[in-house]
Amino acid sequence: MKVRKAVIPAAGLGTRFLPATKALAKEMLPIVDKPTIQFIVEEAKASGIEDILIIEGKNKRSIEDHFDSAPELEQNLEEKGKTALLKMVHETTDIGVNLFYVRQAYPKGLGDAVRLAKSFIADEPFVVMLGDDLMMDTVPLTRQLIDEYERTHASILAVKKVPHEEVSAYGVIDPEQEVAPGLFNVKKFVEKPAVAEAPSDLAIIGRYLLTPEIFEMLETQAPGKGGEIQLTDAIDRLNQTQRVFAHEFKGARYDVGNKFGFVQTTIEYGLTHPEVKDELRAYLLQLAKRLETDLTQR
Ligand code: G1P
Repeated sequence: MKVRKAVIPAAGLGTRFLPATKALAKEMLPIVDKPTIQFIVEEAKASGIEDILIIEGKNKRSIEDHFDSAPELEQNLEEKGKTALLKMVHETTDIGVNLFYVRQAYPKGLGDAVRLAKSFIADEPFVVMLGDDLMMDTVPLTRQLIDEYERTHASILAVKKVPHEEVSAYGVIDPEQEVAPGLFNVKKFVEKPAVAEAPSDLAIIGRYLLTPEIFEMLETQAPGKGGEIQLTDAIDRLNQTQRVFAHEFKGARYDVGNKFGFVQTTIEYGLTHPEVKDELRAYLLQLAKRLETDLTQR
């Protein structure tokens, strides 16, 4: 069956970015000039996804407004002949996919958020895309997962090697066997293990392709790490009844879910942005020199 649907959980409280996220959805924080959720929606579109359900929390109206028309703004830009800006605004409404929204009433965890997509998904395979992870590769990561699914017809999630001391921030896999280059059978999926207990350094990185049987697991899933319903725990149970593969992502991943990652992503993306890249590069080179001098003078 063709993979046509995606779920984007965007119901987190965004506490790591307070006070910016007090009244604004974390997913609306811009990387240079584009909200992070727009990168995710564009990846979905580029991967062939047609329908997207965004799971919202409180203060998320800004997401719906972002993908809606803005008649006053559009008229103003039109009258002033600002066609390039107008085109940019139109790209947020003519996004080429259908967007649907549902609210998670209580932040009970990622697994609980995904569970809310049950009637939207019905009996189709689908992808889950987390907004904290931006991916860059020649073939979009979501497309890579769909391509694997078309070969295996099994659930598959994306993993990437992370530094060992960072594993406890992620879901981690216990790989059984590399069945094809970069494709693993998995013994166990563990949510945020202690560093000493982590079965590998292969971390789950926010792109999942799941069969609809995951909902049977989510509906009966007991709370796990942090007292929350964990998607990783439900996937581990699914893996006991049907195989779930892990696909190692070789492209670049930017974690915009923490402050340092956010700043880093802004710089990296800025270095590719036509309007600022030259100026930013020159500035960074100059800054690096200054920082080095500061260091040697200390
Ligand atoms: C979530 C998942 C975790 C995964 C991570 C990827 O954690 O629960 O398994 O590794 O996303 O970003 P969170 O970052 O929401 O705490």
